[in-house]
Amino acid sequence: MTAAPAPGADRVRVAVRVRPFSQREKDAGSKCVVSMHSRNTTTIRDPRNPEHRKTFTFDLAYWSHSGFQVGEDGVFTSADPSSEFAGQREVFRDLGRGILDSAWQGYNATLLAYGQTGSGKSYSMVGFGANKGIIPSVCEELFQAIESRERNQEYQVTFSMLEIYNEQVRDLLSGAKRPGGLRVREDAELGFYVDGLKSVPCENYAQIERLMEQGTKMRTTASTNLNASSSRSHMVITLRFKQVFPDRGLTKLSSINLVDLAGSERQKSSGAEGDRLREGSRVNLSLTNLGNVISALADAAVGKRVLHVPYRDSVLTKLLQPALGGNSRTTLIAAISPADICYEETLSTLRYAERAKKVRNKAVVNTAALTAESRTGNSKLLLGDDNSSMAAPGGRSPPSPPARAHTRGPPTLYDFGPYEAPTKFESVPSPAQTQLRLVTELSSSAPEGARAFSPGGAILTRWRSSADSRRESRAPPENENETCCNLAFPNLRLSTSLPAALAARPSAEPWLGPRAPQFSWAHQLAQAREEWRQHHVALAQEQQMLKTLPHLLNVNEDPQLTGVLKYFIQAGSCDAGRAASNAITLQGLGISDKHASFTNLDGKVTVAPHGKCKVVVNGVTITAKTKLQHLDRVILGSNSAYLYIGLPSERGGQDLRRFDYDFFQLERAAAEGVSVDKLGTRNGGAGPTDPSVLAVFQDYIELMPLVAEANQMSEELKKGLKMELKVKNLASSDSRGYDLQKEVMVKVTNQRTHEVWVWSKAKFINRKFLMEELYQRFLDGEDSCVAQEDDPFWDPMEAVHLGSAHVWLQPLAYCMELEEQVAFLGCDGLEEALLHIHVRPCSPTGRACGEEDMVMDPLELLGERMDFQVHIVRCLGATWLEEDAERGVQMGYRIYDLPHALYTKPIWKTENPQIEESVQFTALNASQEFLNYLQTNALIVDLWGLQEGCAELSCSRQGLMVTGEGHIMVDTKDMTTVMTTGQTPSNRTSELHLKLLELEQETELLRKVNRALREENLRLRESLERTSSSQPAHEPSAALTVAGDAAPWPERDRERDRECAQRAGCDREFAKALKGFYRRMTTATGQLLRLRRHEPPEDDQMLRPFVQQQSQMLQDFGDLLESSLWTLKTDVALIVKKKRECLLQSE
Ligand SMILES: Nc1ncnc2c1ncn2[C@@H]1O[C@H](COP(=O)(O)OP(=O)(O)OP(=O)(O)O)[C@@H](O)[C@H]1O
Ligand SMILES: [Mg+2]
Repeated sequence: MTAAPAPGADRVRVAVRVRPFSQREKDAGSKCVVSMHSRNTTTIRDPRNPEHRKTFTFDLAYWSHSGFQVGEDGVFTSADPSSEFAGQREVFRDLGRGILDSAWQGYNATLLAYGQTGSGKSYSMVGFGANKGIIPSVCEELFQAIESRERNQEYQVTFSMLEIYNEQVRDLLSGAKRPGGLRVREDAELGFYVDGLKSVPCENYAQIERLMEQGTKMRTTASTNLNASSSRSHMVITLRFKQVFPDRGLTKLSSINLVDLAGSERQKSSGAEGDRLREGSRVNLSLTNLGNVISALADAAVGKRVLHVPYRDSVLTKLLQPALGGNSRTTLIAAISPADICYEETLSTLRYAERAKKVRNKAVVNTAALTAESRTGNSKLLLGDDNSSMAAPGGRSPPSPPARAHTRGPPTLYDFGPYEAPTKFESVPSPAQTQLRLVTELSSSAPEGARAFSPGGAILTRWRSSADSRRESRAPPENENETCCNLAFPNLRLSTSLPAALAARPSAEPWLGPRAPQFSWAHQLAQAREEWRQHHVALAQEQQMLKTLPHLLNVNEDPQLTGVLKYFIQAGSCDAGRAASNAITLQGLGISDKHASFTNLDGKVTVAPHGKCKVVVNGVTITAKTKLQHLDRVILGSNSAYLYIGLPSERGGQDLRRFDYDFFQLERAAAEGVSVDKLGTRNGGAGPTDPSVLAVFQDYIELMPLVAEANQMSEELKKGLKMELKVKNLASSDSRGYDLQKEVMVKVTNQRTHEVWVWSKAKFINRKFLMEELYQRFLDGEDSCVAQEDDPFWDPMEAVHLGSAHVWLQPLAYCMELEEQVAFLGCDGLEEALLHIHVRPCSPTGRACGEEDMVMDPLELLGERMDFQVHIVRCLGATWLEEDAERGVQMGYRIYDLPHALYTKPIWKTENPQIEESVQFTALNASQEFLNYLQTNALIVDLWGLQEGCAELSCSRQGLMVTGEGHIMVDTKDMTTVMTTGQTPSNRTSELHLKLLELEQETELLRKVNRALREENLRLRESLERTSSSQPAHEPSAALTVAGDAAPWPERDRERDRECAQRAGCDREFAKALKGFYRRMTTATGQLLRLRRHEPPEDDQMLRPFVQQQSQMLQDFGDLLESSLWTLKTDVALIVKKKRECLLQSE
């Protein structure tokens, strides 16, 4: 369990920096959604909801978005004195100087750059051209300060540079490549360290510059080799700075870690939703785990119980353990884009930074006692037998500490207390003082462990048993190099010097790891100097060749890595390819052993591909010898891009920066016929392009090279898959046919079996990571066979969406039928098949409506019951079926508010399948929205291709509401509302209750009519009886007196009898109708009671079934009321009609 830190512990400092718009963002007409109103607040606005803003407070906020000018030397500076612009100098002044201050004081320091790809991490850390970043500036100022120090002190600086990609550590300063990368080991004393990492002693800034160049070159080669993007790797530069004070027998040690993290957004895209292999890739493990470590530490900092901080779960977090929650002063710079299209990523970066600022560290000054041997070695160095010793030139008065000038605003991040003035010898504390201070600092910040210097200069926590500590507390220190201090905690022991084993040797460097050979500092310097000499000669040669020979410069996706590799085309003819025998040895996907030939003859340079090897010049694939001109763009293999620099006579003063990676890809896309204009129409031919079209175009440009690489890997690994980039027009699935929504997808075909899959962009990117891992194993000569279920090139068979047909429903709104043959259009707009479909309005019983049922205005149908049938007749001419006789098809469609699609039954191995499936739909109470829908929308029928072994699409009716007759109900929004709000059922109940009351009133009215009729009937009977008993009593009642000729008496009697019989019949029918009605009302009352008693469940989980049941009951109740009323009205109408006829007859 991690304890809450002591109140005085150092907090991780956080700075945010927002960059200018990139060219892509400018082209897309992006809006800035970030603002900074003070030196430490950053506000972000949701572009879809501008009212929604969120403000974050960090230690520093750097506005580098606007208010700048670019000088002739290319340096970005403030445009005017009132500008808020923060350039590289301002950032260095706060963050870089803070790191130097810490280093001089003997603290470890870490700077992490976090943010999405292209947000400006490397710009801040390394910088571009004249705009130097923090790393070079820190190194430069460190050496400047060293040079002006006192003679009797010694300073040792070493530099190491590594990259972590896919959980493998690559030493960027060493040519030796180990399969699987360098090992990260753990030492009980030293903590985690990289075994065998090269750490180069440096004497001046120029050497550091050259080492960084060397490291970048190594990074570029590694990146082109696999073409694994550098955005997905973490770069860690470590400077170790040791100050030796021989007179005092003391050293101060600081480890400065400068970390340019991988682009953060890849985490999301690689978590491709719905991909069965989404957890498979390790490419983001370190970054994801860094987030977990930060979250755990942030929780611990606010007092939450944290049982485990997962440092050990990834390489990066192992190495950064001291920086997060350990012995380091740590700063995080969160780099963000200002653009609205990056809103989600920017917000997530700011949230990440907010968590990070809660993390507490426990930094201490790392001082150690000097061994006797070291003293001798050092004094020799200081005495000048080594003229390039880093001991400062003597005689000079001590300079001021590293400048901490603050030209604007508040103090730097690193105002951790009074400055310790390390330059003044007198101010260096005595060993006793140091120990005392260390004890005080440790006891206040990290009371639970014994400590030793780790390779990163970190404090290691070492638990010991009480028995150990009791033994140690009695025994004197084992040697003079290890001082033991008993803290207030009896079972803890504090080691303030180098571990005994290492300290016994002169100038042992603990950070190299326990297994590293230990040489004296002088020896290491001498070795490094020899390397410098050789390197210098090579560099001078290269400079000369750059001036005189035509050459190729690499162009990388990461601008940092562009122009790093140079391939010279010597006079005569030379081959280029993977094999070492070529004059130009190239790495890269799709590059063959002998790939192409270059000639440099008579002031003319040409390139010719070997055999079928792929060579693209200025976007066009060439097959024969082609002349090259200065600044031509050359792509070799799947995606190795180079800019051709011509003969000196051809060169002018052109700006090479415009030929960046995007330029190459755009040119290639244009050659393939893909452009923004082709993807979407501009508004009326002028105006800005629709942002969604631009977005899909950007996706296309991004994926195009990746697809080429994936195809190459598939070929080399003999997977037989062919991947093609497609732009899916979502108009095909938009029922209004809107044309603007599009998305990129990848169609994958097994060339042997013709099986087809369609992958989304996210799924493809995820798979590409996994393919790279597999391919790397293949390149390393390891076993690249994987089980089918782990193979990124394999997926189970699935139904493929072939296309969609639009069937416009307008006739239905006028109660008219439609019968059509419509085309199924594929995502590329091409016809896939024809659909024969029939949609007809009908009666509840399914009888087709005739012309007499047509309405002039759809509003006439408002509130009425509407029934219609969708009859899918057949599918004609499907290319899918023509291509392979074993395949099948299914069709699916979804009307209005149906919760899911309905599918026709699958039909296999038939070219023009006859489907003949009909489904009846009912809208019980047609709403205005439903009628609008019918008038303006189309029914989308999707055609799905079935292939051997794939699951058929389910035709289930589950979750659909059906009428008593079994028809599927549509336009059930009211009921759905009932289901979602949870309180509306009761409203609906009372509504129905009112309806019931109305019906009861109507029934009462009918009863009265009935009563009146009965009375009349009685009266008639009485008068009949009276007539028959008295003479001439055959007078008709006044009510029934009919003018006109009277029939003869017997005839009249018969008439009367018939009338009476008819009336009696009517009465009987009426009574029967009423009886039926009452019976139904009784049932309805029962249902109403049941509804009232239907209480909601206490368990929320059961709420959904409850609401569904409730809604079904309401539906049944409503149906019953409606049908009862309808039957009653029909019966009464019939009776009245009959009675009228009867009356007319008697008249
Ligand atoms: N503050 C800035 N001022 C001017 N340009 C900038 C700034 N920050 C970044 N840029 C430019 O933006 C582009 C992307 O920056 P950078 O390469 O530093 O991004 P990144 O975060 O390192 O991306 P990745 O994760 O891919 O490595 C570069 O061309 C760089 O010059
Ligand atoms: Mg970068």
